Amino acid sequence: KQKASILKFKEMKKQGKKITMVTTYDFAMMSQVDKSDIDMILVGDSAANTMMGYEKTVQIDLDTMLVFCKAVANAGKHTFLVGDMPFMTYEINAEQAMANAGRIIREGRMDAVKLEGGERIANTVAALVRAGIPVMGHIGLTPQSAAQLGGFKVQGKNLKDAKQIVKDALALEKAGVFAIVLEAIPSPVAKIITESVQVPTIGIGAGNYCDGQVLVIHDLLGLFDRYTPKFVKRYANLGEEMQKALNTYANEVREGVFPDNEHSFSMPRELVEQLTD
Ligand code: KIV
Ligand code: NA
Repeated sequence: KQKASILKFKEMKKQGKKITMVTTYDFAMMSQVDKSDIDMILVGDSAANTMMGYEKTVQIDLDTMLVFCKAVANAGKHTFLVGDMPFMTYEINAEQAMANAGRIIREGRMDAVKLEGGERIANTVAALVRAGIPVMGHIGLTPQSAAQLGGFKVQGKNLKDAKQIVKDALALEKAGVFAIVLEAIPSPVAKIITESVQVPTIGIGAGNYCDGQVLVIHDLLGLFDRYTPKFVKRYANLGEEMQKALNTYANEVREGVFPDNEHSFSMPRELVEQLTD
């Protein structure tokens, strides 16, 4: 597997090849993802939930996100790496966004950044792109502004809202994003957007017409059960596997089965005798 570039992703869209993406937050997981067929990862601010156990993504800060970015970068050699910009690290103005995106690229060693919002954030996106930073957009359900949206609800269900999301996609494309995440919108709206922009759309809860898909890796592997949105599909039950392994280990320790000779160090008998003299 070779690390793809943003040009490759546009090419894949043209050729109708789906782009595959998951979130990743640490070295061990990234080592597995890097060996897999996944094209691109996101160090998402969903780390607030999956890695920190916070209730909301707005609760994670940039320094914490940078720890996860660094760990991922240490294993992510063949996968395109995107770092999420956490809440209030890009909303104030373009200068603030540039400084913080610069940290994600330089210190976090990400290939690109992602930020939430459409038209309202387009000028900031354009400034980042001018500075040479690849930017991924994120529209529809934007978790950092979930409180203002009135909760975690499907977006674009009425004509006015759907039209605004299409406008947001076009504004992001014009601002120079290399891809756009579409979260929790009706499939027909995602289809129209996907057909209206040249850049790939990456869906999560946005149906099957997107150019690619993204899922939170803890959701798809079965490592997070606090809540599960309708759009999540579980491909493994690693949580159960971990319980089995941990309880088998605990049992073997309690019963004196582990460690056995195979996992212990021996010493010549004469030495042992001298030791006990
Ligand atoms: O933080 C995240 O996990 C995300 C994806 C769900 C797109 O933003
Ligand atoms: Na996110």
